[in-house]
Amino acid sequence: MNEPATSACSKTRNPFTGVEANAVGVRVDAISKKYDGVTVLKNVTFDVQPGEIFVMMGPSGSGKSVLLRQISGLEYPTSGTVTVDGMDPCLEETRYRVRIGLVFQAGALFNSLSVYDNLALYPREHRSGGEASIREKVMHALRILSLEDAARKFPSELSGGMKKRVSIARSLVMEPQLMLYDEPTSELDPVMSATISEIIATLKNEYSVTSLVVTHDRALALTIANRVGILMAGRLVTLGTADDLRSSTDPRIVDFLNPKIDIEHPRFKKLEAQEKDTS
Ligand SMILES: Nc1ncnc2c1ncn2[C@@H]1O[C@H](COP(=O)(O)OP(=O)(O)OP(=O)(O)O)[C@@H](O)[C@H]1O
Ligand SMILES: [Mg+2]
Repeated sequence: MNEPATSACSKTRNPFTGVEANAVGVRVDAISKKYDGVTVLKNVTFDVQPGEIFVMMGPSGSGKSVLLRQISGLEYPTSGTVTVDGMDPCLEETRYRVRIGLVFQAGALFNSLSVYDNLALYPREHRSGGEASIREKVMHALRILSLEDAARKFPSELSGGMKKRVSIARSLVMEPQLMLYDEPTSELDPVMSATISEIIATLKNEYSVTSLVVTHDRALALTIANRVGILMAGRLVTLGTADDLRSSTDPRIVDFLNPKIDIEHPRFKKLEAQEKDTS
């Protein structure tokens, strides 16, 4: 496993062409997000340095996917601002200037297209090279994710973990400067999870791709992140290095990182009692 680097880099190098570009940073400034009067993100501020791997952890429902939607330019926050390389991510102009790869929690593949065509869609639409060079890029990305044999399959023929890997491969073909990952290792076995962690670290170490990863995966967060944030009920409750987190004495963080299985918990007793009452 690659060691997390402590300093951020200033240039990205395209993994396919070797061409250099400036690494991009993200700034999230006091954002809040409300849906139907319910506030799900509360005054969240942090930045992701160019070339950094920033991991945001947090319990289910804490607002991680909502946060990624504000950063990827899919939605505007109710208040506060997000900038990617100093620009508004919702503007089309920003998407022309910064290549942002987004790996959705559920894959978000086009079901009517084969795996190969899902990956070839972006370079075809952006006319980046002829069909032969697109084929080379697509097959290279599929090889990195151990998916060569799935090229002709359709999403309905794939397992959940394969869909996730196709979604990552599709982002790689975009030659991203910024990668946003929503639960990249959910539904993957431990070996494939470790491979995904290595891919994220390699993109950083070799190509200075900036990465923001939201995940529950403690191993992923504590091994590859430069910095880790924890979101709870829409608030950023801590931000620091993996070592800061490991040594935290904040009971919320200790409990989140070291959950205990308690089959003696009163809620199970209540259930047993209810079952007895109804039998
Ligand atoms: N479009 C929406 N409209 C209304 N409420 C929403 C919407 N999207 C998300 N929410 C609410 O925002 C909260 C945070 O959701 P989010 O999907 O960000 O959680 P999460 O941290 O990604 O959880 P998980 O780890 O389970 O993926 C939840 O209470 C959810 O119901
Ligand atoms: Mg989510």
